[in-house]
Amino acid sequence: MKVDVVLGLQWGDEGKGKIVDVLTPSYSVISRFQGGPNAGHTLIFGGEKYVLHTIPSGIFRENAVNIIGNGVVLDPVILNAELEKLKSSGRKTGKLLISKKAHLILPTHRVLDAASEKSKGSQKIGSTLKGIGPTYMDKTGRNGLRVGDIISGKFIERYTALKNKHINMIKQMNFEFDITEYEKDWLEGIEQLKQFEFIDSEHYIYDCINNNKPVLAEGAQGSMLDIDFGTYPFVTSSNTVCAGVCTGLGVSPRNIGDVYGIFKAYCTRVGSGPFPTELFDETGKTLAEIGREFGSTTGRQRRCGWLDLVALKYAVMINGVSQLIMMKSDVLNTFETIKIATKYNMNGEEISNFPYETTADIKPVYIELEGWKCDINSIRNYDDFPQQFKDYVSYIEKECGVPIKIISVGPDREETIIR
Ligand code: GDP
Ligand code: IMO
Ligand code: MG
Repeated sequence: MKVDVVLGLQWGDEGKGKIVDVLTPSYSVISRFQGGPNAGHTLIFGGEKYVLHTIPSGIFRENAVNIIGNGVVLDPVILNAELEKLKSSGRKTGKLLISKKAHLILPTHRVLDAASEKSKGSQKIGSTLKGIGPTYMDKTGRNGLRVGDIISGKFIERYTALKNKHINMIKQMNFEFDITEYEKDWLEGIEQLKQFEFIDSEHYIYDCINNNKPVLAEGAQGSMLDIDFGTYPFVTSSNTVCAGVCTGLGVSPRNIGDVYGIFKAYCTRVGSGPFPTELFDETGKTLAEIGREFGSTTGRQRRCGWLDLVALKYAVMINGVSQLIMMKSDVLNTFETIKIATKYNMNGEEISNFPYETTADIKPVYIELEGWKCDINSIRNYDDFPQQFKDYVSYIEKECGVPIKIISVGPDREETIIR
């Protein structure tokens, strides 16, 4: 038994939450391996909508064990708010376990995030301001506090020491702040966290693998936001790519199974940074309106553009994607023609590999395919799709060299076609 992976191939918000929820009945364990509450994963079923930030998207399937893995950074205030919402929904949920090695986001990490963004001025990353970057900096700087430390006896002393260190840093940045209220909720949140079982998730998952219990790793963000391979420095602070599963859960590369790479039938990005196929015209606005492209975590409007095969093929390569999943296909229903970027023109030269210098003047080279111009939302069998839609799918499959196994035609659990 191997660990399968669901991860985003673009700039996040591809629809990972929906797909993890759809796939969960085939798995015993669902585990987040990186990121934190910068993520917003939307699930829609039974006429209701849920947005998860830290909790894995398998939580609404009673028989699934959900794990917050060691690669995740966790804010107890946000986790508790999520848990409250789950409780008030009255829905049955699966079990939730937390890795002892997951790092804690302190109230002052959030302030440091805001102070850092302010200091960057027009070069700001467009962070979700959840404290992600500063928490990972403390992790790699070997200063961080981990979930396992909560029950270690000297937690408050260690918390206070790190907080004071942060306060000195913030003072030097001339940034006004007041954490009184948030800190109160945070300390309360820490107490509430103690109701959960803190585990050595690497051992737990290893036992699952050995006992033939299928495990699904749920990515957050997307490959183009990866700290190493994304559009640096406009990225998040973790490895969002498949390798992140190995470090973020303690799974050996030999134990990685299927890699499900999710992409939207077009592209979006929230926050700053390069986006070669971004549309600033009416078409961009139409995509945003039909696709309801507003961030699930921050409510910010997402930038929209045509599908970018240069970036997609790069992500397929880095992740070793074995199956593709195409989301939000229905958003393209009304378009007469649909463009796909197949190359970039950079400084007068055509390139097909995603370049290092993404701040340079990049002009996408497009091919244009005929649109299907009809409603595909109620289709449930691949054979019933119009020919133009099948041509769109075949073109992407051929270019990427990987089959598109799942197609999503609406936000609901049911609006999914598995080929
Ligand atoms: P995630 O972060 O990758 O889980 O994605 P988000 O939940 O942030 O954003 C995806 C958005 O698209 C959510 O609002 C989903 O409800 C919605 N969505 C998912 N799949 C589809 C689809 O096939 N069609 C449409 N129209 N919306 C979808
Ligand atoms: P999901 O899991 C889309 C973006 C932010 C910003 C950059 C850095 O829902 O797909 P950070 O808060 O991580 O320091 O922000 O990354 N970003 C996301 N964009 N979806 C996400 O998560 C994102 N998480 C972070 O907008 O540009
Ligand atoms: Mg999201």
